[in-house]
Amino acid sequence: MLTDIIPEGVLWKVAEDWMWNTPVCDAEEALVTKAVDKRKREFRAGRHCAHALFDEAGISCSALLKGKQREPNWPDGWVGSISHSNGLCVVAIAPKAAYLSIGLDVEQATPLGEDIINLICSPAEQDQITRLQLTAGQKLASIPLSKVIFSAKESVHKTYFPLNYHTLDFLDARIDLLHDHFRFEATITKPEPNPRHPLQRLHGRFCMKESFVATFIALDAATAGTENQ
Ligand SMILES: CC(C)(COP(=O)(O)OP(=O)(O)OC[C@H]1O[C@@H](n2cnc3c(N)ncnc32)[C@H](O)[C@@H]1OP(=O)(O)O)[C@@H](O)C(=O)NCCC(=O)NCCS
Repeated sequence: MLTDIIPEGVLWKVAEDWMWNTPVCDAEEALVTKAVDKRKREFRAGRHCAHALFDEAGISCSALLKGKQREPNWPDGWVGSISHSNGLCVVAIAPKAAYLSIGLDVEQATPLGEDIINLICSPAEQDQITRLQLTAGQKLASIPLSKVIFSAKESVHKTYFPLNYHTLDFLDARIDLLHDHFRFEATITKPEPNPRHPLQRLHGRFCMKESFVATFIALDAATAGTENQ
C-alpha cells in the first residue's frame, strides 16, 4: 500500500498475521511484560517485521530494544520507523548513509474529533483543511485531511526525535499540504533551543489506501544539512 510514498533505498514491510501472536526474543518480551494484550500484539508485530527486514538486508540485529522515550534503538548505521493502527503494522528501515532519519505513520482514515482538533491543528491548518475541501475537488474528497495532518506530525516526531532527543508539541510544527502531488511540507516553528540537528523544514508524502491514511518522511543524508542551514 505504501509504494507511492516510500522512496528508493528504504526497505519496508507490512506485518504478517503470525507476527502479531508469536512472542519475540526474551530481551524484547521484557519490554512489554506488564503491557495489555493489544499492546503486546502490536509490539510483537513491529519487532518481527523489523527483524524480517534486517534479515533481508543481511544485517545482524539480535534484539531491537528501546531508548528512554520508546524510540527503537536501531542497529548501528541504520535508521527506521514503526507504526501500528487497527490491525495494520508497517515498519521501514534504511541505511544511515542514505537517510539521516525516517518517520512513518499509519492511522485509521477517520477525521479527528472536534474535542481534539484544536490540540493538533492550528487555526491556520484548520483553515487550510476547509479551503482544500472546498477547492481541491474529487481527488481529496474522501481523505480526512485533519487525520493526514495528525499523521504527518507523528511522522515529524518520529523523524525529529531520534536526531534531537526532543519531543515537539503538535503545535510546534506547521503542515502545508501540497495536495496536487500528495506531498506535504513540515516547518518546525518551535524547535529544540540547542538542536544537534537544526532542522527547519521536512518534506513528506501522504496517501490513503483502503481504510488507512499513511505519511512518510525521509531526510536525505546528502541534502538535509544544506536545506536546513
Ligand atoms: C510516540 C507516538 C508518536 C506514537 O504514535 P502512535 O500513533 O500512538 O503509535 P504508532 O504505532 O504510530 O507508533 C508507535 C511507534 O513509534 C515509535 N516511537 C515511539 N516513540 C518514538 C520516538 N520518541 N521517536 C521515534 N519513534 C518512536 C515506536 O517504534 C513505537 O512502536 P513500539 O513502541 O511498538 O516500538 C505518539 O504517541 C506520541 O507520543 N506523540 C507525541 C509527539 C508528537 O507526535 N508530536 C508532534 C510533533 S509535530
